[in-house]
Amino acid sequence: MKKIAVFASGNGSNFQSVIDAIKAGKLAAEIGLVVCDKEEAFVLERAKAEQVEAFSFSPKNYPSKEAFEMEILEKLRERDIEFIVLAGYMRLIGPTLLQAYSHRMVNIHPSLLPAFPGKDAIGQAFQARVKLTGVTIHYVDEGMDTGPIIAQRAVPVLDDDTRETLQTRIQETEHEMYPAVLAELFQK
Ligand code: GAR
Repeated sequence: MKKIAVFASGNGSNFQSVIDAIKAGKLAAEIGLVVCDKEEAFVLERAKAEQVEAFSFSPKNYPSKEAFEMEILEKLRERDIEFIVLAGYMRLIGPTLLQAYSHRMVNIHPSLLPAFPGKDAIGQAFQARVKLTGVTIHYVDEGMDTGPIIAQRAVPVLDDDTRETLQTRIQETEHEMYPAVLAELFQK
């Protein structure tokens, strides 16, 4: 049983897919903490509904990234968190957390990296008129959506896709893929 923390900044649909997989017995993990850098994010409602403890903070209230990451690290250590799952956490991870959790932190990104890193990867792919995009799960390093790739799944862009229909299919893929890839990683 892996004790994990999920980091998110927004809707939290990937957090939901992970906790649903845990509840369904498909993923041997326990979410010990949700970490969120937006006080108003919907993921906080989801955490509350699932009775998962959450730590939310505003980076602007801290003098530096190091300062808020030190506080996060303390909370992770207090709860014996073994592994960090980034699920729409839209912020670069700094050396404080990277050093403490090197090779124990993964991210999901809605494109076939290294194509379309950064924000709005789905919009970027749609605008570029590519025929194939997808989802990547990778270990986290100091870069933006870089780091060794663990798994990728392709999602075709259909002729009649809108940005929204493409987003729906990519997110469905994410919700299937993230719990399955985590389950495999945690068996090792
Ligand atoms: C997901 O599509 C995730 O892949 C993406 O943010 C979304 C969060 O959705 N992450 C990135 O773009 C990382 N660069 P969610 O809050 O509903 O899980």
